[in-house]
Amino acid sequence: MTPLSLPCLYLLLHIFPALSLDFLFNSFNSSDLLLVDDAKIDSSVIRLTNDSNHNSIGRAFYPTKINMKPTSNSTKISSFSTSFVFSVYTQFSSGFGIAFVMSNTTSPPNALPGQYFGLFTNSRKPSVFPLIAIEFDTSLNPEFNDPDDNHVGIDLYNLESVITETAGYNDSVSGNFTPVNMHSGNNVRAWIDFDGSNLQVNVTIAPIGVNKPSKPLLSYTNPAIADYLFDEMFVGFSASTLDHFVIQRVLAWSFSDTGTARDLNTMNLPNFVPKSMSSLSSGAMVGISIACVAVLVVFLTGVYWFWRRRRVLEGEDEEIEDWELEYWPHRFSYEELSQATSGFSKENLLGTGGFGTVYKGNLAANNNEVAVKCVNHDSKQGLREFMAEISSIGRLQQKNLVPVRGWCRKGKELLLVYDYMPNGSLHNWIFHKPKKELDWKGRCRVLADVAEGLNYLHHGFNEVVLHRDIKSSNILLDKDMRGRLGDFGLAKLYKHGGVPNTTRVVGTLGYLAPELASLAATAASDVYSFGVVILEVVSGRRPIETWSKEEDPFLLIDWVRELNCEGKVSEACDDTVKSECEVGEIEMVLKLGLACCHPEPQHRPSVKEVVAILSDAVVSLPDNVEVELAHGVCSGSNGNNAGPPLHSTVPQSQY
Ligand SMILES: *[C@@H]1O[C@H](CO)[C@@H](O)[C@H](O)[C@H]1NC(C)=O
Ligand SMILES: *[C@@H]1O[C@H](CO)[C@@H](O)[C@H](O)[C@H]1NC(C)=O
Ligand SMILES: *[C@@H]1O[C@H](CO)[C@@H](O)[C@H](O)[C@H]1NC(C)=O
Ligand SMILES: *[C@@H]1O[C@H](CO)[C@@H](O)[C@H](O)[C@H]1NC(C)=O
Ligand SMILES: *[C@@H]1O[C@H](CO)[C@@H](O)[C@H](O)[C@H]1NC(C)=O
Ligand SMILES: *[C@@H]1O[C@H](CO)[C@@H](O)[C@H](O)[C@H]1NC(C)=O
Repeated sequence: MTPLSLPCLYLLLHIFPALSLDFLFNSFNSSDLLLVDDAKIDSSVIRLTNDSNHNSIGRAFYPTKINMKPTSNSTKISSFSTSFVFSVYTQFSSGFGIAFVMSNTTSPPNALPGQYFGLFTNSRKPSVFPLIAIEFDTSLNPEFNDPDDNHVGIDLYNLESVITETAGYNDSVSGNFTPVNMHSGNNVRAWIDFDGSNLQVNVTIAPIGVNKPSKPLLSYTNPAIADYLFDEMFVGFSASTLDHFVIQRVLAWSFSDTGTARDLNTMNLPNFVPKSMSSLSSGAMVGISIACVAVLVVFLTGVYWFWRRRRVLEGEDEEIEDWELEYWPHRFSYEELSQATSGFSKENLLGTGGFGTVYKGNLAANNNEVAVKCVNHDSKQGLREFMAEISSIGRLQQKNLVPVRGWCRKGKELLLVYDYMPNGSLHNWIFHKPKKELDWKGRCRVLADVAEGLNYLHHGFNEVVLHRDIKSSNILLDKDMRGRLGDFGLAKLYKHGGVPNTTRVVGTLGYLAPELASLAATAASDVYSFGVVILEVVSGRRPIETWSKEEDPFLLIDWVRELNCEGKVSEACDDTVKSECEVGEIEMVLKLGLACCHPEPQHRPSVKEVVAILSDAVVSLPDNVEVELAHGVCSGSNGNNAGPPLHSTVPQSQY
């Protein structure tokens, strides 16, 4: 070392005190990265989640943080450029994708699995720590304004992206937009360029083999990005699952905060597309393979039909309708379910409800605990519609719905297999008072959960999925005491009048909206039933209590409505939780319940509004809901304490 170089080095270190970062991985080993939770290195590739676990979360970070601000007081922000190759494979049409993350911690507190990428807490409550994510999202979550189930977005603190775009790129020759399917298991390459001086993020994607497109898919410029940065941040990847099979992998990664990230060698990367789906290179090969596959399919179909006919002839199996094979949730064999529930034994009986009998079971194949619901039905049409609905819901998954594992049909009996919910129904927690009661916070959380689940049914699809039988006994609590809505769509089975000797309205007395006496079910009638559940949960009283034949039954809605008109609605609160919360909060929730139970459907809030109110835990109702609540509800009693109870418009006599 020459005498001169020391001062030079000293000078250099002072001008650039932060060590610059420049790395390139064309494969990984476990000492290269910080692996958090379920993330693993498997055959030189990062596998973020573990497909044998439910609610799996995995993250992988570069072990040292990057400097986003060269000195901690500096307003100057560093730039960086990164490129990586990822692959997401989902067994069903969609699943959760992968996120590139910049965070000041490797374990963001309260991070949720599933659509939350194992990073975010809740749609309505943004993170409190510096967190920027670029999501490569393969699920459609309308509550976060996702455009489709295959999009790229930029998330600042919040899962609701500031900008999103359907995944794809513009072909350099034709100039046409070419979609990129991110959940087929294909290797997809992404480039993220961050310009610190202009506070601009560009995201570009393309399949392997395509050069970096000249125009980015997303280009987002906003000085406020600076607020979402911390002096030093980890960079890496995060992904999560809920109940279904998804594998998220990162195969190669390069990063530089001094220039352009080095080019990845994409030639020798492994390919995780299942064999039958992988695209073959040359045209001839494609032709030959298609021919081979076609012959094989014809042959196998023949064998299958032959086998099926024999089974049917031998009386071993029910004739399977064609449509029964189309739908996703797994079709179990009757034997398998019988075995799982020890022959539907009494010991395994969990309960008997409106729609059938429920047994606890244990699937031998993977030792999963399940609840098997046996429903008797007469309507093939109803069953078909029901299966269509269930399979689309099953595909999209939502953390506030009880996951459907599969189904089985034997004669007129339909068996539905759900995940077992260890904490039973909300009804039991409210009325049968097990040792540990559900406190106020817990009750509000369950209500917010269920509202989100219902919002998903109402707004998560092209068509509105009606639940039609919302009640506290159809709300189940999972192992974390979070609320999940069960039995969705089941009422549809009965819509076509299949139930012996009735053409009655489906649903449960006490939860039925008044208009159902003459009109078809709507989203608003679901909201009504949910309103009854809110009142039930806060007051700890049943919707209808009958003391004796002579006396009029106690009607919960009327009682709360009356208290509200008298200006003392908070008196309706259950004594066991009264002391735990503020009067204002109780009032707010009860009034929300009443607003949902408004006799006229058009005056009820939408479930979207209900979600916003419940999950924000705001202390007062938004004006429009307050106005609707006042509209007509108290008019009968003139606000007079002494008046007789306002009778609910539920047409009792009809049921
Ligand atoms: C992992 O890779 C690093 C270089 O990236 C190498 O130094 C190290 O020996 C490797 N470790 C193992 C266990 O292969
Ligand atoms: C996945 O998790 C299970 C335990 O739930 C564990 O036994 C298994 O080794 C894990 N697999 C991988 C690839 O990490
Ligand atoms: C950074 O700012 C703080 C106050 O905001 C000041 O006390 C400190 O000296 C500054 N440090 C540098 C290196 O400028
Ligand atoms: C991350 O940032 C938050 C908010 O700025 C801060 O409170 C927290 O201590 C930081 N965590 C780490 C590990 O630096
Ligand atoms: C981002 O994209 C825009 C538009 O193509 C381009 O002008 C800009 O230079 C890009 N910025 C970075 C940091 O690559
Ligand atoms: C693709 O080209 C169209 C039309 O020229 C343009 O509107 C669009 O923004 C381009 N998209 C990308 C990702 O380059």
